Parts: sequence; C-alpha cells; structure tokens
Amino acid sequence: MQRIIVTGGCGFIGSNFVRHLLATDPGLAIVNIDKLTYAGNPENLADIESDSRYTFRQGDICDAAFIDGVLGEGPIDAVVNFAAESHVDRSILDSGPFIQTNIVGTQVLLDAARKREVPRYVQVSTDEVYGSLGDEGFFTEETPLAPNSPYSASKTSADLLVRSYCHTFDFPGIITRCSNNYGPYQFPEKLLPLFISKLMADESVPVYGDGKNVRDWIHVLDHCRGIEAAMRKGQIGEVYNFGGKCEMQNIALTKLLLKLLDKPESLITYVKDRPGHDLRYAIDCSKAERELGWAPQVTFEEGLNDTILWYQDHTAWVDRIKSGEYMKYYEQQYGERMSET
Ligand code: NAD
Ligand code: DAU
Repeated sequence: MQRIIVTGGCGFIGSNFVRHLLATDPGLAIVNIDKLTYAGNPENLADIESDSRYTFRQGDICDAAFIDGVLGEGPIDAVVNFAAESHVDRSILDSGPFIQTNIVGTQVLLDAARKREVPRYVQVSTDEVYGSLGDEGFFTEETPLAPNSPYSASKTSADLLVRSYCHTFDFPGIITRCSNNYGPYQFPEKLLPLFISKLMADESVPVYGDGKNVRDWIHVLDHCRGIEAAMRKGQIGEVYNFGGKCEMQNIALTKLLLKLLDKPESLITYVKDRPGHDLRYAIDCSKAERELGWAPQVTFEEGLNDTILWYQDHTAWVDRIKSGEYMKYYEQQYGERMSET
C-alpha cells in the first residue's frame, strides 16, 4: 500500500484532497498532519475518521522534532504540503504567523523529507506569487515572481526554498500554483463562503473598492485532481499552474450570488479597499493540460450551484465556526470598514 503524508488536511483544500484520494484509490494510506489553527477543523473529515487507511496526527509543521518523528514512523511515498496561513487579509493585519508557518514550516518539512529520503514532495502554492495582471494576459510558469501581500510573499519564499533544495540537493520537489478555489468546507472568511453565508442570513456583503478586481475561479475538486496528477506524474523540479478558465469581476460574482439566492442588490455594501489589492489573476494552465493530462472538469455554473446547496445544507457547520474566534477577526477586519460607508 502506498503511504502519503498530507499537511493541513483539516483545512479547506486539504480535507477535499484527503477525501478525494481515499475515495478514488483503495491502495492508498494517508497520514494527515495538522496543527488545528482557527482554519483547521477535524469536522471537515468526520466522515472518513474511521477509515483504517486514515491517520490524524495533530502538530505543527514548524516543530522539527515532531515532523521528523512522524516522517520516521514508516515508509513514505510522498509528502504533500497544504499547511499554511492562507488568508490575505489576515496577513495584512499580522504577517508573523505567515512567515512562521509558510516559510519556516516549509523549511522544516523540506529538511525532514530530505533526511528521510522521501521520493516526492509537492508544495501546494498559489498564483498570487506572480503578483497582479492588468486587463490583458495570463500567468504562465515563466511569469516572474512578484508577490504583493505578506501572504503571497511568504508563499513565494517557500517556493524559492523548494526550488533551491531541488537545485542544490537534487531534492524531488514539485510546485503547484493554483487560482482561487471554491467549493465545500471553505472557511467563511473567503469571498464566496462569506458572501453566501451572509446573504443566507439577509446580511449585507462587503465588496472591497469598486468591485472590479478579477479572480479566476476553480472548483476545489479540479484543484485536487491537479495536485494528484502532479504528485503521480509531475516532473521533479517543475512548476505546474492550475486554473479554472473562469475569470470574473468580484461585483459580477456578487450580483450572480444575489440572483441565485434571490436577494436584493441593496445588500451590497462597498467598503474601503484591501491595501495593495491585486487587480486581476488569470491562469494559463496549458502546461498541466499538455504534460499531466489534466483539465478542469467542473463548470462554474454547476460548481457554484452545488456550493450554494452545500452551505444551505451545512448551516450548523458555519454557525459553529462563527461562534468561535471568528467574530473577533470579523470585527477587526470589517467593523470600521462597514461603518465608514
Ligand atoms: P485553509 O486555511 O483552509 O487550511 C490551512 C490548514 O493548514 C488548516 O487545517 C490549518 O490548521 C493548517 N495549518 C496552519 N498552520 C499550520 C502549521 N503550522 N502546522 C500544521 N498545520 C497548519 O487553507 P486552504 O484554502 O485549504 O489552502 C491550502 C493550501 O493551498 C495553502 O497552502 C494555500 O496557500 C494554497 N492555496 C489556496 C488557494 C485557495 O483558493 N484557497 C488557492 C491556491 C493555493
Ligand atoms: O488566487 C489564489 C488565492 O486565492 C489563494 O492563494 C488564497 O489562499 C485565497 O485566500 C485566495 O486569495 P484572494 O485574496 O483572492 O481570496 P479572497 O476570497 O480573500 O478574495 C477574493 C476577492 O474578493 C479579492 O479580490 C478580494 C475580494 N473580497 C474579499 C473579501 C473577503 C471582497 O471584496 N470582500 C471580502 O469581504
């Protein structure tokens, strides 16, 4: 049986990845290492907890002794690193945890994987490392790195560490860079789950600036299939971009949500812009299509409808999150912004 280590498996994309692999590959065992930060929720994997192929180890990827211990427990076929601080707005409020987890944590994993001679390491990165596009063009794997937020700078630093280990030590690293994910189990601080859950409660939604920033939306399962393809078929030392070929201005997406949820446009509140807000992301994923045989499969219409249904069916999941640390963050991030308008 193949055995892989996933970090950050209790978060949004990691939990979808673990569920996807266990459902599609009976010959796979997974060890999930997660610190359970505010974003890590064991409930996201409650349905597979009793699967004998799944093991959960709570801990911090920055803790070298712990990581070395887990990697030393048995043979490993791959490490896939999802664990990160992932929200741009939080990195603007406090960049410290981003530097620690995203950079130091990656270095700890790289050293442990090297020491244990893990044959494959996948670093799950983001299109935000490329900075921002104007009205034209796409990010390719050759686009120069130009991160604009503390979050994207920390992810870029991690990518450069992986690159340097491949170059210096012949380390078997692969980097994936993806655009904005949406789908089930996404923490309601990100645009789509935040807006869906607020509109369901007839609350107004905070659109940053003029709402004309563009994001390229991809369903989380398409991203997971891409990471799996990179893990199984990717060339060592290479970078693979993934995107949904679905660009949309934030305001157009907001109005689409209002329509799908049958809510009035009076629920839109334009608020002070995110500092340094990247204008546009758009991914050229032709390399992954060509070399990995991957392509996005979920149409935005189908994926968005399913996602809305998921949040409508999981109001208790959202309510439990919102009853914790979440409200303190929400007040800090939006309190002043909402009252300024
Ligand atoms: P998330 O915030 O939902 O989950 C992050 C997970 O990592 C949580 O379970 C958290 O507990 C865990 N974690 C955080 N710090 C840790 C630490 N020090 N040690 C161990 N575990 C820790 O994030 P997500 O949206 O699922 O993103 C997962 C990865 O994908 C991140 O690396 C992110 O940069 C990348 N990514 C995200 C998107 C997106 O649209 N969400 C797009 C491209 C790439
Ligand atoms: O592109 C990939 C990245 O996508 C990932 O690397 C990040 O982990 C992920 O969080 C996401 O980053 P964004 O900053 O693009 O996602 P977010 O959902 O925070 O915001 C999407 C857009 O919506 C962005 O232009 C900011 C805007 N926005 C966001 C929030 C939370 C609003 O207008 N209002 C809001 O309240």
